[in-house]
Amino acid sequence: MVELFTKLGIPGPCPNFFVGNMMELMGKGKLVTEVMAEWENQFGLVYGYFRGTRATLVVRDAELIKDILVRNSSEFINRPHMIMNVPPLPYTLVGLRSQRWKEVRNTLSPTFSSAKIKQMLPIMSNCVQTTLEILKEKSKSEVRSGEQAVDAHKLFQGLACDVISACALAMKVNAQRDENDRFFRAVRGFLENAMGPFVKIALCFPLLATVMEWALKTFGYSHEMTKMIMENVQTAMKIRRDNHSTSGSVPVDALQLMMDATVQEHSTSPPSESTTGSARSLALSDDEIVANAWVFILGGFETTSASLSFTCYLLSIHQDIQERLFTELKASFAADESPSYDQISELAFLDQVVCESLRLYPPVVSFVVRGMDKDCQIGPYHVPKNVGIQIPIWQVHHDPEIWSEPYRFDPDRFEDNAKKSYGNNMQWIPFGTGPRNCIGARFALLNLKFTLCSVLRKFKVVPASNHHSFKLKLKVPSVTIVPEEGIPLRFLPRIE
Ligand code: HEM
Repeated sequence: MVELFTKLGIPGPCPNFFVGNMMELMGKGKLVTEVMAEWENQFGLVYGYFRGTRATLVVRDAELIKDILVRNSSEFINRPHMIMNVPPLPYTLVGLRSQRWKEVRNTLSPTFSSAKIKQMLPIMSNCVQTTLEILKEKSKSEVRSGEQAVDAHKLFQGLACDVISACALAMKVNAQRDENDRFFRAVRGFLENAMGPFVKIALCFPLLATVMEWALKTFGYSHEMTKMIMENVQTAMKIRRDNHSTSGSVPVDALQLMMDATVQEHSTSPPSESTTGSARSLALSDDEIVANAWVFILGGFETTSASLSFTCYLLSIHQDIQERLFTELKASFAADESPSYDQISELAFLDQVVCESLRLYPPVVSFVVRGMDKDCQIGPYHVPKNVGIQIPIWQVHHDPEIWSEPYRFDPDRFEDNAKKSYGNNMQWIPFGTGPRNCIGARFALLNLKFTLCSVLRKFKVVPASNHHSFKLKLKVPSVTIVPEEGIPLRFLPRIE
């Protein structure tokens, strides 16, 4: 295996026979993004490395990225086979492959259309109301006790957990008020340990994968979170089906929209024209609904909370930009008003701020990956089956040839809707791109924008310390880049 890339004429770091390049990737002191930046400097825009025994080809050339994710996407539609098949991941959009992935994705896509998401705004609004109350209470107690900071990351983790649990699991968590809530702790624990020792051992010693799979199912952190989600979603579905047949009232959230896709299967009447053939296979089983509700927490929790934290951090150390944004918000809606979907859509500078924050800190750094079951050609490279393909978003977003001074926060880069051309040219891809991109992107953007404009209309955010620009410490526990030590900020009420 060690010679695979050498034989193909593809450069890359020298792998260890057992662990591949895991020691460099997982070693202490450097982030995976820093290691990959060094590899790119050394080996160029296309190179190969080993995650344990798994060969991975990194592709950073824009034309080749477009070939893989867009032009020839049907050839590269799957992610690599999972190292361990621990349920419910294989039944989710993340883990499904080929035809069944296509069917489930087609069924779930309308759940995240603009029209449906608009209907979920009241649920988000309810949760953000709690955030505003907490910040108000905090600013009052600050005056009394001199207590300084809010950990923005912890606060937004609570908010993200509350929003996604309410929208996808029909579960009221209140994690913002109770950081020791059992479910909230289970979600955090799961994501912190997603790349724990069982996974690492299975990557390096594939023969032990079955044992590690058993160990993960039995002792892994996912166990408690998965059990709570399964119990809750199954109960909610039963109550809704019972209520629906009696009262007919239908809540609008992601869970209900997924359930609607199964109505045909649960119907006692014989299948009509519309429920035969492909329409039938589009229906989700109850297990698939539960699995996908589970994966929305996985996909949306850490990404959304990290993005909100990074954006508030950036605005706290760039007061001029925050003031420009505040001027836009003030002209759009009153301080005691909750912004509507249409108002949010028209906030051009807010969009620029969010795009630039997602460029500078793309939360998902190593998940745009593809895996083929047969050999393929990528530009001049012949790539054997089962070699994983990875698109390094962080490197794309920090390329000095595209972005002058790539580490400077400058929302004006996205003036005049420039994100479209950056997206088409594979230069700005925080949500991946092509048919297998992030299904929750619209939902995430609305959640980010609604939260930011609600908070920043009422509060001015400043760093907690006297330092004008404190530096963020980051870590990558799984595939997401997150703050390592929290982000201490102060939210000062704006007086009009
Ligand atoms: C700022 C927030 C978010 C970011 C930056 C983000 C980013 C990403 C990225 C980069 C991918 C991989 C795309 C690819 O392979 O081309 C992805 C996939 C996915 N995301 Fe997100 N995501 C976010 C929020 C969400 C939310 C809120 C949800 C659910 C409600 C979600 C659910 C998913 C799912 C299910 C997939 C797999 C899609 C598939 O394979 O068909 N994400 N996301």
